[in-house]
Parts: sequence; C-alpha cells; structure tokens
Amino acid sequence: MTTTITVANQKGGVGKTTTAVNLAHGLVLKGKRVLLVDLDPQGQCATILGLKQEPGAFNLLIADQNPDQVIRSTDRENLYVVLGDKKTATAQTVLGVQRTPISFTHGKLIPAAKSDNLDYVIIDTSPSVGELQEQAIWAANGVLIPCAVDYLATDGVFSIAATIKRIHDELDWQGSITGILPTFYDEVTRESKATLEDLDDRFGNLMLRPIHRATILRECAVEGKTIFELDATSRAAQEYDQLVEFILGWE
Ligand SMILES: Nc1ncnc2c1ncn2[C@@H]1O[C@H](COP(=O)(O)OP(=O)(O)O)[C@@H](O)[C@H]1O
Ligand SMILES: [Mg+2]
Repeated sequence: MTTTITVANQKGGVGKTTTAVNLAHGLVLKGKRVLLVDLDPQGQCATILGLKQEPGAFNLLIADQNPDQVIRSTDRENLYVVLGDKKTATAQTVLGVQRTPISFTHGKLIPAAKSDNLDYVIIDTSPSVGELQEQAIWAANGVLIPCAVDYLATDGVFSIAATIKRIHDELDWQGSITGILPTFYDEVTRESKATLEDLDDRFGNLMLRPIHRATILRECAVEGKTIFELDATSRAAQEYDQLVEFILGWE
C-alpha cells in the first residue's frame, strides 16, 4: 500500500520543506521505500539533500515525460525523488490556465508510485494558492500542515483548512488532515504559547507535538544533509523522529 502525504500551508517559511525532506528521510531510515516530490519552484528539497535542482516536476506535469524518466533514485538507498526548479512556476501557471482535472497530478504520480511498490509519497508544495497546490492536496491520503508558532499564525492554518474542506466537500476527495505540526516553537516566548493555545482550542485532536526552533535545521540546507545525517542526537532529530513514528502509525 502506498500512503501519500502532502505538506501544505499557504504561508512561506513555516517549515514545509524542512518537514517534507526530514519526514521522507526519516521514513527511509525506518526501512520504508519513499518518493519525495518537490512541487515548489524554489526547488529547496534538492538543496537539503545536497542535490542539484532539476525540472522533474515540470517534465512530469507539462512536458509529458513518463514517471520513470523523472523519478530518480538517490545515494540514499530507498529514497527516490522528483525534484523541482524554477520551471515548476511555469507548470503552476499552465495548470492554472488549462482546465486540467483536479485528479491530474494524482494520475501522473500515484499509479507509478504504487507499481514501484513505494510505501510513501511525500509531496512538498509552494506557499501559494492555486491549481497545482489543490491537485497536490487531492493526490494525498493526508495533508500535514506545518505552522510556525513564533508569531500569531493561526490565520494561515484557518485558510489552508478551509481550502482542504472545500476540496473535500466539492471535489470528492477521500483524504483528510493528518495533523497540524507546530514549528519554530520556543516555550519562553509568549507568542509561541499563545499561538499553540489558540490552535489547541480550534483544532485540538489534530495538533501534533511541536518542533522547537533550532538553528541546526537551518544548517541542514547549507550542508546538504537531513537532520538525521547532520546530528541524529539533536533535539530536532528526535522531534522529527516522533513525527515519523506518528506517520507510521497513521491510517
Ligand atoms: N524549527 C526550525 N527552527 C529553525 N529554523 C527552521 C526550522 N524549520 C525550518 N527552519 C528554517 O527556516 C527556513 C524556512 O523553512 P522551510 O522549511 O524552507 O519553510 P517553507 O518550506 O515553509 O518555506 C529555512 O531556512 C529552514 O532551514
Ligand atoms: Mg518550501
């Protein structure tokens, strides 16, 4: 069985890419076969993995290449990728203009992932609203919503939750919200606590354990390493490991 998790939030800088890459690699370290798909024109999944950006997403969605041509293996055994680069922005525009069905991205990716016997597909998305983001949600069994709690950020979660509800109600989507992941958590600041309480009141059972603000997560992109490679004993690695365990038990 292949489980697809899309990481989404219309806000930028909330830890989507950090979460997508570390979740994907964390699952691999638990023995799973994982495909990481970068649907953000910034192409930062490649950066954290120490790889070169490439127009994998564009070639899959627009240039009509086969999944086999764009799904790459990596040095990390059992970690496969569809990387992105700035051409993904063209894909976003084209998909916004063409009337592709909401199931378009799903159809391009998921059957191939299933026939390759992949256990998980993790999709990273860009911080904007549009056809490609909605297709990425529709492709998923579950949507994971990172939310930076260092400033009052609940409105971002409200808007993505509203988008998800609409896709569910109007477009016959069978998935659900996997969880809301507080990021940049810092227990000494009032903002962190207030935001977390706010989210707890509104989304109670969907709230996951927070990822603390940690400089080492920034260093991952500089070093081209996941948190499990950079320092598996760090608190950040332990927190992402808890997320991995949660996802393994989900569904
Ligand atoms: N918990 C954290 N603590 C400190 N820095 C973080 C944390 N999570 C992510 N970052 C850093 O913050 C920046 C934005 O994170 P990123 O994952 O790229 O967010 P998004 O994909 O939502 O735009 C990056 O430089 C990243 O390394
Ligand atoms: Mg990102």
